[in-house]
Amino acid sequence: MIRNEVIDCIRTRRSTRQFQERQIQEEYLEAILEAAIWAPSGGNNQSWLFTAIQNKDILAKINELLREGFQHWTPDSNYPGKLGVKAYAQKEDSHFFHHAPTLIIASNKPDYENAMADCALALENLFLAAHSLGLGSCYVNQLHWLRNDTELRDYLFELGIPKEYTICSSAAVGYIAKESNVPVRKTGTTQIVK
Ligand SMILES: Cc1cc2nc3c(=O)[nH]c(=O)nc-3n(C[C@H](O)[C@H](O)[C@H](O)COP(=O)(O)O)c2cc1C
Repeated sequence: MIRNEVIDCIRTRRSTRQFQERQIQEEYLEAILEAAIWAPSGGNNQSWLFTAIQNKDILAKINELLREGFQHWTPDSNYPGKLGVKAYAQKEDSHFFHHAPTLIIASNKPDYENAMADCALALENLFLAAHSLGLGSCYVNQLHWLRNDTELRDYLFELGIPKEYTICSSAAVGYIAKESNVPVRKTGTTQIVK
C-alpha cells in the first residue's frame, strides 16, 4: 500500500471530543481557514462563509442556545443522534462542541444545491490541516439541525452570519486533551471495476 505524508495525515486524523482549554495560535487559525477555502466547490462557487468564534462568552451562549433549541425541536428523521439529542440537551453539562476553544461555523448561500457538499469538502481540508499542525478537530452537526431556530439565527446574525444563509455544519478545533480511539474501518465499502 502506498504511503506518503498526505495519506498518513488522512489515516491518522481522528475526531477529538476532549480539548484543552488553551486557545490555538492566530497563525494556525489562519492556516486552517485558508485550507478550507482551497477546497473544490461546485461550479467554483466558493459561496461558503466560515465564521470562526474564539470568545468564551459567545461560545457558551451558542451552546446554551443549542440546549434550549433542542427542547422545542422535532427530529425530522430516525437518525440515532437526532433521537437522543433532546435527552442529551437536558443534561446540565451537555456541550455540543466538546468545550473546544474554537468553533468554526460553515454556512452557505441559500438555494444553492451544492451548499452541503462544498462545506463538507472544505471542512475535511480544515480537519486535515488542523491535524497536520498538531490540533484536534471534530465535525459538529447540531448547528445544522437547528439551522431554522429563530433564537439561534438571531444570535448568529449578530455574529455576522446572514439570516438567509443555510448553516451547513461546524467544526470544533483545539489542542487534544484525550486521544480518541481509532474506529475500525468497515470492509467491503470500495470496489474496483476494470
Ligand atoms: C456528517 C457528520 C456529522 C458528524 N456529527 C458529529 C457530531 O455532531 N458530533 C460529534 O462529536 N461527531 C460528529 N461527527 C464525527 C463522527 O462521529 C466521526 O467522524 C466518526 O465516528 C469516525 O471517527 P473519526 O472521525 O475519528 O474517524 C460527524 C461526522 C460527520 C461526517
